[in-house]
Amino acid sequence: MAREPTQQLTRWLNELGRITDEPGKLTRTFLSPAMRRANARVGEWMRAAGLAVREDAVGNLIGRLEGSRPGAKTLLLGSHLDTVRDAGRFDGALGVLLPIVALDVLRQQGRVLPYAVEVLGFSEEEGVRFSSAYLGSKGFAGTLRAADLKLRDAAGIQVRDTLETLNGGTFALPRAAHRRSDLLGYLEVHIEQGPVLEAQDLAVSVVSAIAGQTRGRLTFHGQAGHAGTTPMNLRRDALAGAAKFISDVELIARMRPPLVATVGTIAVSPGAPNVIPGEVTLSLDVRHPRDVARRAALRRMLGLAEWTARRRGLRCTWTLTQDGNAVACDPKLTRVLADTVRKLQGRCPALVSGAGHDAVVMSALTPVAMLFVRCRAGLSHHPDEYAAPEDLRVALRATMAFLERFAG
Ligand code: GLV
Ligand code: MN
Ligand code: MN
Repeated sequence: MAREPTQQLTRWLNELGRITDEPGKLTRTFLSPAMRRANARVGEWMRAAGLAVREDAVGNLIGRLEGSRPGAKTLLLGSHLDTVRDAGRFDGALGVLLPIVALDVLRQQGRVLPYAVEVLGFSEEEGVRFSSAYLGSKGFAGTLRAADLKLRDAAGIQVRDTLETLNGGTFALPRAAHRRSDLLGYLEVHIEQGPVLEAQDLAVSVVSAIAGQTRGRLTFHGQAGHAGTTPMNLRRDALAGAAKFISDVELIARMRPPLVATVGTIAVSPGAPNVIPGEVTLSLDVRHPRDVARRAALRRMLGLAEWTARRRGLRCTWTLTQDGNAVACDPKLTRVLADTVRKLQGRCPALVSGAGHDAVVMSALTPVAMLFVRCRAGLSHHPDEYAAPEDLRVALRATMAFLERFAG
């Protein structure tokens, strides 16, 4: 890799951003054809940087570099390679590609770290396909459960089916990839996905904690019928009930900052202009830095769903697909990272992340720290997502300084 490191990183981000399942937009979901191509390409870049590359049973891409000291512990760095629909090219990808560039720079300098490093490209973090996030990191951390395997995508395919196909017909829940005692920690570099760093005129910063989140599917069951012949007072319109619920969700969240709640998908059945909607399924995503507040808000929302359904002659059913509490980053590891950041830019405020990250799951296996990078207008989960090369350069320098601190 002869190119200047930040330029190399930018080229890779651009190239990876073109590997997609949906022409004209960036979409890569769990084990999709584009995910397989992404793993192959990033695997080539890992190999070129001197890493030994493998894939695990849940489709995670793992690049390993041994340390100079035999039997030394391993530092993990990574993030996810899947995306939301019509995504930006930095969310996830940055945290996989930046460490590869950092290790390649060290290799070119002839520098060998005393400890081993693994760069992880997780196969699933966004929860787009199965409405439940972190399937990749759960597989790596040994926290994937039988209930996760039963989740179904929109086509009715179970997680178990996809994993059996990947593994030639059989799949057993994996154990953790490492013993806790063999690890030094996990560092995830990620765009902030919010506006704070831009407002504070800072390139990067550390994360103190990651908000908890609950996701599920809510179905309103009504009665389909003729749109021209059924009087309004005799209808049991599932979509009208769902619409009332969606505006209630928004109101509840608006009244309780920093609570956030989102209905991001909706499926109407049978789905014709001249048929009264008989069944509607929508997704609900609820987050709050405090777990009690998140749980209370969810109870209130589901209570209102019941009330709305009853008043309109509907029935509603709730399926929980994901429920995770807030997670604190490791204070010691974060202090080391913050020291390196302060040397580069003076200040290093600790941010709370409203977005979920693989670090949440990895914290069950090893201490975690996160480096946030400023992104333009705080925009993310959108094709205009952007982090400036100057900020990527600072993130790269902070990561390299962090690697050196561990060597010391
Ligand atoms: C992942 O980006 C999430 O926070 O939903
Ligand atoms: Mn992400
Ligand atoms: Mn994301």
